[in-house]
Amino acid sequence: MVDEKLGAGVPHSSIDLYAPAQLLDPWEGYRQLRELGSIAWLTDLQMYAFTGYAEAKRALTNWQTFSSASGVMMNETMNQVLRGNTLCSDGERHAAQRRVIIDPLTPRALQPLKPQIDSMAKELVDDLVMRKTFDAVTDLAQHLPVNIVANLVGLPEEGRSQMLVWATQMFNCFGPDNERTRASMPVLEEMVEYATTQAVPGKLKPGSWAEAVHHAAARGVIDPSACPALMIDYMGPSLDTTISAIASAVYLFAEHPDQWDAVRGNAELIPSAINEVLRMESPIQGWSRYLLQDAVFGDATLPAGSRALILWGAANRDPVKYPDPDRFDVRRNPIDHLGFGAGPHACLGMNLAKMEIGAVLEALIARVERFEISGSPERALNHVLRGFNRLEVTVH
Ligand code: HEM
Repeated sequence: MVDEKLGAGVPHSSIDLYAPAQLLDPWEGYRQLRELGSIAWLTDLQMYAFTGYAEAKRALTNWQTFSSASGVMMNETMNQVLRGNTLCSDGERHAAQRRVIIDPLTPRALQPLKPQIDSMAKELVDDLVMRKTFDAVTDLAQHLPVNIVANLVGLPEEGRSQMLVWATQMFNCFGPDNERTRASMPVLEEMVEYATTQAVPGKLKPGSWAEAVHHAAARGVIDPSACPALMIDYMGPSLDTTISAIASAVYLFAEHPDQWDAVRGNAELIPSAINEVLRMESPIQGWSRYLLQDAVFGDATLPAGSRALILWGAANRDPVKYPDPDRFDVRRNPIDHLGFGAGPHACLGMNLAKMEIGAVLEALIARVERFEISGSPERALNHVLRGFNRLEVTVH
C-alpha cells in the first residue's frame, strides 16, 4: 500500500509553503526544510518537497520515474485541466508537441527579432530615464513581453490584452486546493474557453506562433485535439515569467549597487548576471511530478503513486551546490541553475527570455548609474510566480 510507505525514511515537516508570509519571503522556510534534509515529507500537502539541488536535478532529468503526464500542479483539478499540453505530457507525445512549440523559439529562429527587441528596449529606457521615477514592473518589465511576445503568439486582439491577467491567475491555480486557488479558477475557465473557441484558425494572426501550431495539427504532426492545450503553452508562461525576471533584476541591482557597477564596467557580465538573477529569484519557484515507480534516495524509498514538489527556488539556493547562496554575485555565472528547469521539460522559451532581459539590461547600463527604490515595493502574492506587482524606482 502506497499510504503506509508515504513519508517513510525522510524527515517530516508541517510547514505551509503556500501561506502568504511564506510565499512573500520563502527563503527562511526553504532553509529550515533543507536543514531537515534535502528531501522532506510535507504532512499538510502530503507531498515530498525537494530542496536539494542534486535531488531536484535527478528528479527533473528522469521523466520515466518523475512523470509530468499526470499534471505538474499541486491540486488534482488543475492536473486534469492542463493534461495533454506540452508541460503536462511525457515521452513521445511530449517530444512531438515540444518540437512544434519550440520551432519559433530556437536561437536561429529568434535572431531576426534581436534588432527590434534591442531598439525597443533602448527607446523605452531613454523615455524612462527622462521620467526619472517609474514603476519597474508596469513601465519597464512588462513592455517587451506585452508589445513583442504577445503579438508573436498572435491571439485575436482581446485575447492579447487578457494574456497577463490569465497567466497570473493560471499560476495561482497551480497551488494546493485552497481559497486562493479556488478564487482563480473562474479566470482559468475563461482562458480555456478562449483557447478552445477563439484561438482557432481564421481568427489568429497570420504567420503567428499560435497559427503554426494549428498548421502542424493540420499536417498530422500533432493530434488536433491537443491544439487548445498547446495554445495555453504559449498563453501561460511567455509573459509573466520574463516580467518577473526583469523586475527582480532591477530590485537586486538597486539593493546591490556594487554589482550594478560591475556589470556597467563590463557588459560581458550580462549573461552571467541574468543567470544569477534567475538563480536568486527564480520566477517559477516550483511545481510537482507524479512518481510512476519507486525512487530510492539514500535510505528512503519514495513510493510509486506519490507526488514530489520540486522547489527550483530552494534548490537554486542549496549551499552544497552554490556556496554562500544568498549572496548576489554577478560573476558567479551559475549556468546550471534550475530557474529554467532541467531535463526534457527545460524551458523552451529561455532563449527569448534571455534576449529580452539582456536587451533591457544593456539599455539600462548605458543610461543608469543607480537605481533607488523610491516607494514600498509590492510583492506579488502567487502560488508559483515570484515577482512584484509594483516596484517604484528613481534612476540616477
Ligand atoms: C525568465 C523567463 C522564464 C522562466 C524563469 C521560465 C521557467 C520555466 C521552467 C522552470 C520550466 C520547466 C517546467 C517543468 O519542468 O515542469 C519552463 C517550461 C516551459 N516554458 Fe518557460 N520560463 C520562462 C520564459 C518562457 C517563455 C518566454 C516562454 C514562451 C515563449 C516559455 C514557455 C515554456 C514552455 C512552453 C514550457 C514547457 C516545456 C516543456 O514542458 O517541454 N517560458 N519554463
